[in-house]
Amino acid sequence: MTPLLPLTRRDFLGTSGRIAAGVAVGSAVDLGALLASAPATAPAAAAPLAPGAKRRLAVVGTGIRATRAWGQELLKEQGERVEIVGLCDVNAKRAAASRQLIGIQAPTFTDLDAMLRATRPDALLVTTRDATHDAQIVHALRAGVDVVTEKPMTTDEVKCAAILDAERRSGRTVTVAFNYRYAPTAARLKELLAAGTIGEVTSVDFHWYLDNRHGADYFRHWHAYRANSGTLWVHKATHHFDLVNWYLGADPVEVSAMGALRRYGRNGPFRGVNCRTCPHAARCDYAWKMTDDPVLTKLYAECESVDGYLRDACVFREDIDVYDTMAATVRYSTGAMMSYSVNAFMPIEGYHLAFNGPKGRIEVRMFERQPWDVPRGVDEIRVTRAFGGGSEVIPVRWGEGGHYGGDLLLRRMLFEPGRPDPLGQRAGSRAGAMSLLTGVAADRSIQRGRPVRIDELLSPGRAGARTG
Ligand SMILES: NC(=O)c1ccc[n+]([C@@H]2O[C@H](COP(=O)([O-])OP(=O)(O)OC[C@H]3O[C@@H](n4cnc5c(N)ncnc54)[C@H](O)[C@@H]3O)[C@@H](O)[C@H]2O)c1
Repeated sequence: MTPLLPLTRRDFLGTSGRIAAGVAVGSAVDLGALLASAPATAPAAAAPLAPGAKRRLAVVGTGIRATRAWGQELLKEQGERVEIVGLCDVNAKRAAASRQLIGIQAPTFTDLDAMLRATRPDALLVTTRDATHDAQIVHALRAGVDVVTEKPMTTDEVKCAAILDAERRSGRTVTVAFNYRYAPTAARLKELLAAGTIGEVTSVDFHWYLDNRHGADYFRHWHAYRANSGTLWVHKATHHFDLVNWYLGADPVEVSAMGALRRYGRNGPFRGVNCRTCPHAARCDYAWKMTDDPVLTKLYAECESVDGYLRDACVFREDIDVYDTMAATVRYSTGAMMSYSVNAFMPIEGYHLAFNGPKGRIEVRMFERQPWDVPRGVDEIRVTRAFGGGSEVIPVRWGEGGHYGGDLLLRRMLFEPGRPDPLGQRAGSRAGAMSLLTGVAADRSIQRGRPVRIDELLSPGRAGARTG
């Protein structure tokens, strides 16, 4: 069976031989060489602190993800061992609102450099818009500060190279907060695959359904523009591509994709500026009263005067330039292939994931929201063995808190010293890179109308000449 550990440098070079050739990617930085020499495993878990000391964390980007998952929830669970020493956001009002919602006294800043100098944190949590992660990560690394970044690590290959280069030069570490790996169902799937239950995986079926509530949310604000999110191929699918890389212990090699905008953006029958002011709200299926939620009101509606950031902008804005309907096939370094899709205006929310191998099939249909009843709080993994070996259902209870337990268990892994990591859940910059590059390749495949190899993103001139 193919080992389920991340590929070694030699394996990676073997699957993408030309990567080592040292061709620059639109900049002086050579992403291929950086990836080839990047540690296959993630940085070690938090080192022990002196008795009574707390890990000092600074946060850049104080929107909802920072305020809830990395503020309120983190301090509730781990307040004895971590403290937030500074909050930074380009919107000073939002930073102040976040501080109040978290319930801390830490100073707020609008300038990252000023925060790092004033607070000297042990680590920077990066929770800004996706396309700005690179600047903040590189800045912190150069200042000698470790980074924990939200996914996606960044949005394109040039920014990715800059991050890996800064990490290597600084000797500091980048951890990518891939919370989906930590949900109990994901962990159980990884265990079953690692145990060789179905033999070496030959193919994967992976289909993600975003409903009219959650799916629409990506079209309400910055995610709806590729310049901010790299499209949902990067912003959203980075979770899924990372899971598959991790499940298979493989790297993506080639991606072929299609994508379209079929429901949101210019497809709308009418449009306004945002839901709160929209004359069509009464007849719009997507009308959303953000101000029903006091936290969102405080973080967004009450801070709009500073930056004009409308959290409830119209999903039918004509300039929306990302896809809501996407399908791809991906080939991996182990020879496995995946059929993948994500659709963002479904009447159901959840996913279907199956692994096929010579000894059988492992599958799960995760039910998050749908207009019929299923047992709540549990996923059922079905394992079917080939040649009459029977079929069994393995129930896995959801974990507590956000993302079916993923958020809580991720925070434990990152901040509880000495916590074991037998499944290799802790993700570093290499995992961040390989997942985002899959999404970038999918987007390029649509633009170029042909399959795109990952190594084309590392050495575009050469590979383009070969396959263009
Ligand atoms: N892992 C998960 O499941 C998960 C869930 C939600 C969001 N996220 C990620 O978390 C990040 C934040 O998402 P969010 O929903 O909180 O977005 P948000 O828009 O609510 O918050 C982003 C904040 O960053 C600030 N910002 C933007 N550019 C900045 C800059 N250059 N310097 C400082 N501040 C800047 C904005 O003013 C805003 O307050 C994103 O990368 C997103 O992909 C991850």
